[in-house]
Amino acid sequence: MPVQAAESPLSRYLGASSCASSSCHGGAGEKRDQVLTWEQRDVHRRAYSTLVTARSGQIARAAGLGKPETEARCTVCHAPFAQVAPALRVVPLDVTVGVSCESCHGPAESWLRSHTRPDFTRADRAAEGLAPLEDLYVRANTCVACHEQVEAGLRAAGHPELRFELDGQTRAEPRHWREPADRSGAQAWLVGQAVALRELEWHSGQTAGAKDDRLSERRDAVRWLLAHAAPAAGLPLLAAQPDELARAAAGKTWTAADTDALRTRLARTAGDFRNGVTSQVQQSCRADRLVLALDRLFAASDRALEKKLEPELTALFRLAQVPAEFSPAAFADALDRLVAAMK
Ligand code: HEC
Ligand code: HEC
Ligand code: HEC
Repeated sequence: MPVQAAESPLSRYLGASSCASSSCHGGAGEKRDQVLTWEQRDVHRRAYSTLVTARSGQIARAAGLGKPETEARCTVCHAPFAQVAPALRVVPLDVTVGVSCESCHGPAESWLRSHTRPDFTRADRAAEGLAPLEDLYVRANTCVACHEQVEAGLRAAGHPELRFELDGQTRAEPRHWREPADRSGAQAWLVGQAVALRELEWHSGQTAGAKDDRLSERRDAVRWLLAHAAPAAGLPLLAAQPDELARAAAGKTWTAADTDALRTRLARTAGDFRNGVTSQVQQSCRADRLVLALDRLFAASDRALEKKLEPELTALFRLAQVPAEFSPAAFADALDRLVAAMK
């Protein structure tokens, strides 16, 4: 089951304006400018506006839906306030704000007053219902809900394919918080992939709805990736229970050696692309996820190395780009060149 980290049955929604006073998060200074960052730079603030564009209209028409801004199949991710049950609303909620504070931090009624208490620890706040997003496992659960899987019918209608990747997506969101300097991108990557696998397995188990032929390939691709990644990071391979793997990865004390082992292991997977057994479609799905992984694992941890390996990483990216033209043999050769360049 997908874990709904940001949902607490005890708490109701207050809307973004309740966070926005200038002495709280609506100020101008570094410590009070979260609302400003979100309003001016965060795409989540514009997620509803996306639904009223011509492109969204096309997607909705092709999928046989009505107006996207009133379709639950769109608002569930682009305007989550539309989905909040009447009983959970303290005030009328403005759906046009898109993905707002409470969509990630949890409905605020239960914690709004207490979360500023100077004697409150993070654990105290979490107990009141403020999602402890500093925990990579909780964070991954929050983001993955909207970022891994969009129905096959919507993809066929032109919706972009989604791929959850916690590290890159966390970095791409304009940051309205301070992150510990020693936080490893590789660790975030691993936690994110394990949570993505749990979601893909859960969706694969659902039999209702239109058949999604790419789903099993995408799931197997992430499973394959983790079958290499987990042991490299010294974690027991719990492929049957990706949720446990995600928790273990989030709780682990991560070292630079783990990052190194992880990327070395994933770079040395050329043999898997030469096995002559795995189908071309499956290989192309694996390559798609592997390229994103290598990009994160080199880029996130070591700028100098990233620069040095740029030609090899770019070559891999190009080879993985067009599924129909994917050549496992050429990709395997390019992986060998990456490994040679790493020395
Ligand atoms: C309630 C659903 C929802 C949640 C939760 C959510 N997002 Fe998003 N996110 C979206 C939607 C919808 C878009 C697309 C916005 C648009 O362009 O209209 C998006 C876009 C993004 C983008 C820009 C596009 C991309 O993929 O690079 C980033 C980065 C991002 N989200 C990161 C995150 C992170 C990190 C988290 C968790 C801390 C998160 N999101 C949680 C719905 C969500
Ligand atoms: C499972 C969550 C989810 C659902 C459901 C969903 N979207 Fe999205 N949508 C996203 C995310 C996340 C992105 C950002 C993808 C990226 O940039 O990689 C996005 C991107 C888009 C974009 C492209 C925005 C851009 O500027 O590139 C459009 C258009 C869009 N969605 C429209 C729709 C419509 C219309 C529906 C309903 C028919 C819908 N979405 C349903 C999560 C969702
Ligand atoms: C897409 C998800 C998302 C949305 C939307 C979002 N946040 Fe956050 N927020 C995060 C994440 C992730 C963190 C980092 C958690 C941590 O390390 O404590 C964070 C951290 C924070 C922090 C802690 C800052 C610090 O440095 O300790 C504050 C305050 C905050 N958010 C306020 C807001 C407010 C106010 C809004 C709405 C205007 C908002 N957030 C919207 C995901 C989100």
